[in-house]
Amino acid sequence: MKILKMNLVKMQQEKENYTLRTWQTEDAASLAQYLNNKNIWDNCRDGLPYPYSQEDANVFLSMVQAKENIQDFCIEVNGEAVGSIGFVPATDVERFSAEVGYWIGEPFWNQGIVTDALKEAINYYFEHTDKVRVFAVVFEHNSPSMRVLEKVGFKKTGIFRKACYKNGRFIDAHHFEIVADEKLVGNKDL
Ligand SMILES: CC(C)(COP(=O)(O)OP(=O)(O)OC[C@H]1O[C@@H](n2cnc3c(N)ncnc32)[C@H](O)[C@@H]1OP(=O)(O)O)[C@@H](O)C(=O)NCCC(=O)NCCS
Repeated sequence: MKILKMNLVKMQQEKENYTLRTWQTEDAASLAQYLNNKNIWDNCRDGLPYPYSQEDANVFLSMVQAKENIQDFCIEVNGEAVGSIGFVPATDVERFSAEVGYWIGEPFWNQGIVTDALKEAINYYFEHTDKVRVFAVVFEHNSPSMRVLEKVGFKKTGIFRKACYKNGRFIDAHHFEIVADEKLVGNKDL
């Protein structure tokens, strides 16, 4: 089986109000500035450090840069790294799927940026990897994130009751997925 590799070291797509690109070492300060926010952390897994320091940002950026393929995208606005879209490939029989996670700094909420950036990132990911399915897990209270996924074309596949425990309480997890269109899947050289 041939695994497709993204041999590109960098990608950059400039849009009207933001740029989607790969991470750079110099992003640590603005990454820490925007991600050190409890309103973001409350919607993410506990594996994300909070408070989020510049040292945490340095660790993240080193990890991203050590990866063989591009799995992590930076959302840049006005020259600052203000958001993130990251893919985590699944393994074993699910190895052609990946989970996606994303956030953007609070000053940039509700400007349509993540919806547009996620569309771009998913198209890029399907085109440059062997993945045919991307899924996302959203806490029950996170209506903006569900709206983003719906606008991008994800379908809700189910609600896993009390599947997550966050901030001292059980939360239902809403699962979403998007599958690469058949033409694209058919063209993959697996
Ligand atoms: C979720 C998040 C990434 C959305 O990013 P964004 O750039 O603000 O998203 P967009 O502007 O593209 O779209 C947001 C949509 O949610 C809608 N929305 C906002 N608040 C809402 C609410 N309380 N209830 C329902 N919809 C809401 C907006 O109106 C918009 O939909 P519309 O275009 O139909 O009007 C951002 O809020 C964030 O970073 N949140 C914290 C981290 C997080 O939740 N990450 C996802 C974990 S699964």
